[in-house]
Amino acid sequence: MITIIGSGKVGGDAALFSALRRVDDEILLLDVVNGLPQGEAMDLNHMLSEQGIDVNIRGSNDYSDMKGSKVVVVVAGSGRKPGMTRMDLLKINAGIVKGVVENIKKYADDSIIVPVTNPLDPMVHITYQTSGFDRNRIVGMGGMLDLSRFIQFIHEATGHSRESIRALVIGEHGENMLPLPRFSTVSGIPLSSMLPKEKLDQLVQNTKQVAAKVIELKGATVHAPGNAISAIVDAILKDRKKVIPVATPLNGEYGQSNVSIGVPAVIGRKGVEKIIELDLDVQEKETFQKGIESVKSALAGV
Ligand code: 2OP
Repeated sequence: MITIIGSGKVGGDAALFSALRRVDDEILLLDVVNGLPQGEAMDLNHMLSEQGIDVNIRGSNDYSDMKGSKVVVVVAGSGRKPGMTRMDLLKINAGIVKGVVENIKKYADDSIIVPVTNPLDPMVHITYQTSGFDRNRIVGMGGMLDLSRFIQFIHEATGHSRESIRALVIGEHGENMLPLPRFSTVSGIPLSSMLPKEKLDQLVQNTKQVAAKVIELKGATVHAPGNAISAIVDAILKDRKKVIPVATPLNGEYGQSNVSIGVPAVIGRKGVEKIIELDLDVQEKETFQKGIESVKSALAGV
């Protein structure tokens, strides 16, 4: 069983894609709003019936229903509105996330937590501190989403199949996001041999800015985050050992401690099973460091 706390559009889509990937046979949608998770669950079950997929989705307003969850996804909190940065949500969401994590400790203290609420990296660290869980059990979803956007831009620029594209985005899920063309390939062929530097710089810029564009156009980002959540949950529950960028607490990696941020990691049944340290160049290090400082100053403010 997995639980998704927060049954708005992203939570609903996370349930939808998780069911289509058959990550587990039971998905619980939790929300404080009466009726919302129940209605969402009914609607999703009707879809699954036609698909012939025997995953059961339930809706509830009662935290105690998450007992027995192997993974708990935390989407609860206020979303980013047009014109807002992810950091603008800090104070509102820190309180919400702390309350939710207290309930996870109470009812699902063996689970792996997937924080999604923005600003993502500070929320991951607050989740780590509030839960007291070992850090491998905190697998924040941010880099995976940024990566799906970077892949789309590489696909548009090269014309090559999305399936052939392997890329990486690490660092802060925010202003100091770090898409890494140097660690990106099309079927093993370095991206830098396919596109000129100016074009690569443009793809990096686009990747950093495109969420704000989607929010401006349609009010929120929904399908890409919902799907990225399901990809992480799938890697955990099926013990895939997939290398995915996730936000997780650092303890000496990249020379950092007492902070959480996006890094490439091996994801399997234990959550973050290994953090992979890349040999970053001077400029990449600088952006990564700016992200660290931004997350640390956010944490100092709550
Ligand atoms: C996103 O990147 C808003 O953080 C959210 O879609």
